[in-house]
Amino acid sequence: MSEEKNSTTPAAADGSGEAALGLDIGTSRIVLAGGPNGHKAQTQLNAFVSVPYSKMTEAILQQNKMVYQRNGKEMFVFGNDSERFASFFNAVPRRPMQYGVLNAQEAMGQQIIQAIIESMVPRAKKNELLCFSVPGRGEGADSNLVYHESILKNFLQSLGYEAKAINEGLAVVFAELQSENFTGIGISCGGGMCNVSVSFLSVPMLSFSIPKGGDYIDYSVSQVTDESITRVRLAKEESLDLSRQPKDKIASALHIYYDEVINLLVEKLREEFEATKQLPKLERPMPIVLSGGTAKPRGFLQKFEAAIKRDGFPVPVSEVRLAGDPLTATARGCYIAAISEIR
Ligand SMILES: Nc1ncnc2c1ncn2[C@@H]1O[C@H](COP(=O)(O)OP(=O)(O)O)[C@@H](O)[C@H]1O
Ligand SMILES: [Mg+2]
Repeated sequence: MSEEKNSTTPAAADGSGEAALGLDIGTSRIVLAGGPNGHKAQTQLNAFVSVPYSKMTEAILQQNKMVYQRNGKEMFVFGNDSERFASFFNAVPRRPMQYGVLNAQEAMGQQIIQAIIESMVPRAKKNELLCFSVPGRGEGADSNLVYHESILKNFLQSLGYEAKAINEGLAVVFAELQSENFTGIGISCGGGMCNVSVSFLSVPMLSFSIPKGGDYIDYSVSQVTDESITRVRLAKEESLDLSRQPKDKIASALHIYYDEVINLLVEKLREEFEATKQLPKLERPMPIVLSGGTAKPRGFLQKFEAAIKRDGFPVPVSEVRLAGDPLTATARGCYIAAISEIR
């Protein structure tokens, strides 16, 4: 990306935006940016519920206008409807992905993720460019990353797109650090993992992931408090304030596991910086941008800043800030990457 392209915004006024799409394929959610409604990102849960086929259940699904797929003796409700449907039947939704990549243990995973993507992404008209997010290497995402990327790329190509993978942390840099010449650290804290990319003038210098995020926090808190994962997740999403003393057992445990994930992330960043020999000479301190659903609770930013300050940091940091919309930053960044390639 060059200087003159820095003014690119998702709502490209010249219409070039319509020919490009950005797709964030996350463990918890799939987010689409660009296309005719470029200014507004669309989201679907990357989850599904299966139920045995019966005429009656099918009628209920149709009455409730739920999106489903029938496969012989089973029916699958996927995307945003899976949450509502799971709570009707008191079922736990299944996930096509785990720790940022396709879940090998989920036999239906690929079929369902394709159905979710197809419900959001129209067929390409003339080989339009679509940039999609992929995680960086790390524990949990290693050799399986090659497989994950190829399967998704092939599928998106089968929809008629020219498909290009973009590292998720770099996408955050593209979305949020335009006025800093795409120089800084982009971090996405999602459900399955956290992704980090350190970028100089839009070139990624180091990228990595850790296999811990919101799901790990929910699971761990549920184990130690003996509450259901769903109850923990709702408490976390609806009322967690990391800037205040916790008031109950769930909140105390949430604080503890949030601290663990933040410390792990900062520790890994320090290690990666120290292991990198050829960092370009920095002219000024770097900004850090935090995004993803896990970064949303009040006080997350302050906890992250405190962890950076506590033991010092290998590079000078100008500021730590939260992405404009933490849930759509990756998709917006993929979209910006796509637009700047086709111009
Ligand atoms: N308001 C919120 N407060 C805390 N956590 C949230 C909030 N909204 C979403 N989350 C959590 O963020 C995670 C999903 O983040 P997202 O960026 O969508 O993930 P992914 O990249 O894995 O798809 C889940 O663990 C979810 O519980
Ligand atoms: Mg994500």
